[in-house]
Amino acid sequence: MTILGIETSCDETSVSILKNDEVRVNLISSQHFHKLYGGVVPELSSRAHLEQIVPLTREALNKAGIGLDEIDLIAATAGPGLIGALLVGFTFAKHLAWSVNKPFIPVNHIEGHIFSGFLMETKPIFPVLVLTVSGGHTLLTIVESETKIRFLGSTIDDAAGEAFDKVSKLIGLGYPGGPKIEQAALLAKRKDTSFPIANLKQAYHFSFSGVKTSVLRYVQKNFPSDADSNSNSVSGKTGIIPEEEINEIAFGFQESVVTALMKNVEKAIVKFKPASLSLNGGVAANSAIRNGIERLGTKYGIPAVIPSFEYCGDNAAMIALRGKQLFESGEKFSIDSEPFPAFNSRYIYNR
Ligand code: KG4
Ligand code: ZN
Repeated sequence: MTILGIETSCDETSVSILKNDEVRVNLISSQHFHKLYGGVVPELSSRAHLEQIVPLTREALNKAGIGLDEIDLIAATAGPGLIGALLVGFTFAKHLAWSVNKPFIPVNHIEGHIFSGFLMETKPIFPVLVLTVSGGHTLLTIVESETKIRFLGSTIDDAAGEAFDKVSKLIGLGYPGGPKIEQAALLAKRKDTSFPIANLKQAYHFSFSGVKTSVLRYVQKNFPSDADSNSNSVSGKTGIIPEEEINEIAFGFQESVVTALMKNVEKAIVKFKPASLSLNGGVAANSAIRNGIERLGTKYGIPAVIPSFEYCGDNAAMIALRGKQLFESGEKFSIDSEPFPAFNSRYIYNR
């Protein structure tokens, strides 16, 4: 079976071709220009997807040496994501499928991430405890089969990636924050700056807005603006933070995030005794988080499957794979299906 997958939910245009469960191509065109604005600008994202989608699809077919007539199924991200960005890939894919008379499957982006470990040669074993950490979502699930995803918990405020991005901006490292914080943390020497983690009553839920505020307070207190240090009143503005201190703050913040994530994962391992672990989403590129999951796998004697970097961030291979799983489980195409911007229960959990 040959599947064409299309992903345009945020700032990556991606087209992938999966043949007999093997990724033949996975092209990702990242919109780096958003750095200029300190975050993703939705309208610019849609326009860039519009420019990229046709040439990227042609390139994917050429690279795989496959004609459109050899594609058996077309799958595209339906949501969640930026609605203007989603509309580009989704509408293109749906109409391409219609024009060549092939089945079309809408895919939930988060389901794509959840199953991305199955793109690896060594696959997770059911039931698998899955931690999904991205810019928009932080989610803990137990996946019992391709059609049964059990929700355990999610963030009640900021997503892990969002916290990385906000803290990075706060300490002057810029956007995208995740990789910059990780690099700075590697340069920390003292490693004695720490920030508290949230202690939530709801089991398996996460909260990252508190740690972000602690970093802000720490910076305001220890590195006030010149105006603040020369007067009795406090404006709350921050001054210049020396580079060594930026590294220490980045380390302390990253440690807090890793501790908060691993605490819930360990609690879930003890309670649900999964057969394997998996980690995915853009934040899964972070080595401290990858190491944390691997350590827990070793501690409890279960394999941890972490996708390679190209399948952690947004990519169309995971959309093609999820499309195939859904098609095989009997999912039907409807020309009336539409993309959806918000995370909701559409196309997810207990079909
Ligand atoms: O999954 P993704 O590519 O897009 C969403 O669907 O959200 O995730 C992007 C997020 C951004 O917040 C980015 O800062 C974060 O992943 N990220 C990282 C790292 N690389 C990317 N966070 C921590 N450490 C990293 N190395
Ligand atoms: Zn994503």
